[in-house]
Amino acid sequence: MCGIFTYYGHKNTAPELVIEGLKKLEYRGYDSWGIAYKTNDEIEIRKEIGKIGDIKVKDLDLKHSNIAIGHSRWATHGGVNKKNAHPHFTEEKDIALVHNGIFENYVEIKKYLEKKGHTFKSDTDTEVIAHLIEEHAKTHEFEDAVKLATQEIEGRYAIVVLNSSNETMIAARKGSPLILGVGHTEGEYFIASDIPAFLKYTNKVIYLDDNQMTVIKDGEAKFYDMEKHEEIEKRIVEIDWDEESAEMGDFAHFMIKEITEQKETLARAINQDPKIIEKVAKAIESAKGTYFVGCGTAGKVGMVGEYLFAKIAKKHTNFAFGSEFSNYKDFLTKDTLMICISQSGETADTLEAIEVAKEKGVKIVSIVNVETSTMARMSDIVVPIKAGPEKAVASTKATTSQLAILTLLAYACDGGVKKGQQELINAAGQINDMLNPRYEEHIMKIAEKIKEVESMYIIGRGANYPMALEAAIKLQEVSYIHAEGFAGGELKHGPIALITENTPVIALVANDDSKKEIISNATEIKARGGYIIGVAPENDDIFDFWIRVPDTQAVSPIVNIIPVQILAYQLAVLRKNDPDKPRNLAKSVTVK
Ligand code: M6R
Repeated sequence: MCGIFTYYGHKNTAPELVIEGLKKLEYRGYDSWGIAYKTNDEIEIRKEIGKIGDIKVKDLDLKHSNIAIGHSRWATHGGVNKKNAHPHFTEEKDIALVHNGIFENYVEIKKYLEKKGHTFKSDTDTEVIAHLIEEHAKTHEFEDAVKLATQEIEGRYAIVVLNSSNETMIAARKGSPLILGVGHTEGEYFIASDIPAFLKYTNKVIYLDDNQMTVIKDGEAKFYDMEKHEEIEKRIVEIDWDEESAEMGDFAHFMIKEITEQKETLARAINQDPKIIEKVAKAIESAKGTYFVGCGTAGKVGMVGEYLFAKIAKKHTNFAFGSEFSNYKDFLTKDTLMICISQSGETADTLEAIEVAKEKGVKIVSIVNVETSTMARMSDIVVPIKAGPEKAVASTKATTSQLAILTLLAYACDGGVKKGQQELINAAGQINDMLNPRYEEHIMKIAEKIKEVESMYIIGRGANYPMALEAAIKLQEVSYIHAEGFAGGELKHGPIALITENTPVIALVANDDSKKEIISNATEIKARGGYIIGVAPENDDIFDFWIRVPDTQAVSPIVNIIPVQILAYQLAVLRKNDPDKPRNLAKSVTVK
């Protein structure tokens, strides 16, 4: 939620660099953007509404500067307009600030500052932080003023502050991501919400942890623990992602690139270190109660986990969305196990669930894509899904890799991690054959047919029920068509009233004991005029349109979601939506 990118160094093109960096972070928020940079003694501010990706740097008439901060926004406090866009600054315009997160007690601090004579131009919580720092700076050194301000802020945040009078850049975080890139030339630093934004310049990174701050001044970065009030040493980590994997290459959008990559990403997920899988399986075996926790698509993957464990490992597990998890806190003990699923590892609702669990001594496992994320660092065991950077807002390759890990875990708990691996390898091979232009052309026929519909529905049974919910998310978020997923057996209890002539209904079919029943549910829908799109290993008379998937039994949630990902993408393109940056959304949701 919101992208931060800043540059401090020798290059005098800092504003251009920051704009280019923000373009790479646009998936985090894209309703407005802004930069602040130092020229002589002034801070220049430039803010615009809309997507930064559409901006041509040469049209902006930027001045030279070697120190700049920037932000692309996903609005929380205050509407989408120029005055609410970041950076925010003080009256004197010598302090500018960008912020990702939510500052919960800003109303009372704003009132206090107003009494002290501060006036505010925006409706944001962020502007209040800039003024709070300014207020403290009247009686303290600038660094201490930032420290004091952060101690008064309640909520999750990542901030970067630029002070033009002493050419200092300060970054601090609590709950929202912020990473420092160490440039190849001495005294050069990048700060960003996500690594791919500066990968072009450096792969050497330093992760700021919660309650830590970095002060970049006189060409040097120093680090502080804001709680212990002491300077600390931080380790430089070398990242092995290449820039290309974070770029679009020849694809029209990241979403289709990432869908296509599933041939490789699944193979990487399956080739996990078996020791990690076995370690987690042992933890599940010995736990008295296991909870899968995640949000959005990752939540749906957690729901699939419940089904996989029931079916394969014959084991009862529980599922909760991150935002609902605290309702179960009375059942948590030190023998409980929590398995968190997240692409980014930065989702605020899941992080909060972990905090609730940790208070009760619960052991935490995280299945994450970003191995160095906050979630990973809060966990006792980390299972990396190794999908590589996922940039499209709609999760695709991370989803199937997470599903693959849960399948492996379920088999491992049944004593057969090798069997699980074999089933997944077979499925990955068939997915490899399936993902080709002819397959996409076939799905395009149905996309063309249904592109103007107002509503569509998806049904599934067993592990394909949560996949029907996930299919609905995919269709909603990029095509903006009203889509809803149901358990196949549930329609007749109410939702079937929504079916009229030619209402498209996707049936996710697995070749197992649920097959007869899901076909029978599709038949009930067809009898009411529904248009049945069967995603199934075999054709059936009941289907009006058939999308073939490999026959993979326990792996059917993975193979069944892929054609729906492709359909959602194609509908987005046909309806002239941006599939990578759908309206109102952001890639990682770092607010509650
Ligand atoms: O980074 P996470 O996996 O924790 O994100 C969780 C959800 O916000 C995410 O899956 C969201 O639902 C996606 N946009 C769905 O495609």
